[in-house]
Amino acid sequence: MKLVLAPMQGLTDAPMRALLTAVGGFDWCVSEFVRVNDTVLPPRVFRRYVPEAEQGFRTPVGTPVHVQLLGSDPACLADNAAVAAEMGAPAIDLNFGCPAKMVNRHRGGAVLLKEPEVVHRIVAAVRRAVPAHIPVSAKIRLGYHDREPFLDNGRGLLAAGVSWITVHARTKEDGYRPPAHWHEIARLRDIAGDTPVIANGEVWTVNDHARCRAESGCADVMLGRGAVASPGLANAIRDAVGGGSGGLPDWASLCELQRDFVRDETGTEAGAVGRYKQWLTFMTRIYPQAEALFLQVRTLRTRHEVAAAITASSSL
Ligand SMILES: Cc1cc2nc3c(=O)[nH]c(=O)nc-3n(C[C@H](O)[C@H](O)[C@H](O)COP(=O)(O)O)c2cc1C
Repeated sequence: MKLVLAPMQGLTDAPMRALLTAVGGFDWCVSEFVRVNDTVLPPRVFRRYVPEAEQGFRTPVGTPVHVQLLGSDPACLADNAAVAAEMGAPAIDLNFGCPAKMVNRHRGGAVLLKEPEVVHRIVAAVRRAVPAHIPVSAKIRLGYHDREPFLDNGRGLLAAGVSWITVHARTKEDGYRPPAHWHEIARLRDIAGDTPVIANGEVWTVNDHARCRAESGCADVMLGRGAVASPGLANAIRDAVGGGSGGLPDWASLCELQRDFVRDETGTEAGAVGRYKQWLTFMTRIYPQAEALFLQVRTLRTRHEVAAAITASSSL
């Protein structure tokens, strides 16, 4: 049973990947997408997107970080994948799910799901360009306007030799609106043979994870916003699958993590405080204490003030 931390632009960046993988439970994470246009990016650009490249593409606790590429030109994506592979990337993931207008207008992300032939050619070209021992995976949605191209895309990916397919169980039109249609993933699972299919979308709790697995028929699941809202979720899932109670960490221990996160001095103070508030907003979904804390920190500007508010909250 694999648990994967989802790529989320501006959310699961390197500091958040470090934090969530240190809490534990993840087999690997996927980087935010590296946008590929018509040039071969130099290694320094990859290092900027994926700072873990300096440590063998691993987070500080050793969890592998796969490199995600987004683009539409098979040859250029293949050349860039070869650079990442040469640098030591443990796996290359290709993004066919991004719903952003700007990205789609430039023929990147989910819009390519309308063209299964292009999706096939991209993965085949990248597969050829990367040494056989390095997996090449794809992350797709069910479709763009509707779910009609889902299996055509799936068949094209399988024929291209994809190592596994992650399916965010919604169309581009669905955006992030609940529910995720986990049962649709089972249609691909049925034809994928030995190729793993990883289910993704709307897994916020241990119970969601069990239902997602049952409905999709997939053993493996990718956690996105649920992992950020509930940093102990991956461990709790493992515990529950092993027959345990699947409990989450208490608020006081989460407060310690929050203090460390906001005190991190690698970026600017405004950046650290802003990113912390973003994270806290996600946690309000699971922890009632986060709601009260958010009201207190909303107008605060310094790391010091925010850390003090977290300390006060930790005894609540
Ligand atoms: C803020 C944000 C940024 C995202 N960025 C990416 C990305 O860079 N690459 C990608 O494949 N998916 C991206 N996604 C989609 C997620 O990886 C995931 O498929 C989606 O959030 C559904 O899973 P969830 O319901 O568990 O969050 C992003 C999602 C969010 C909310």
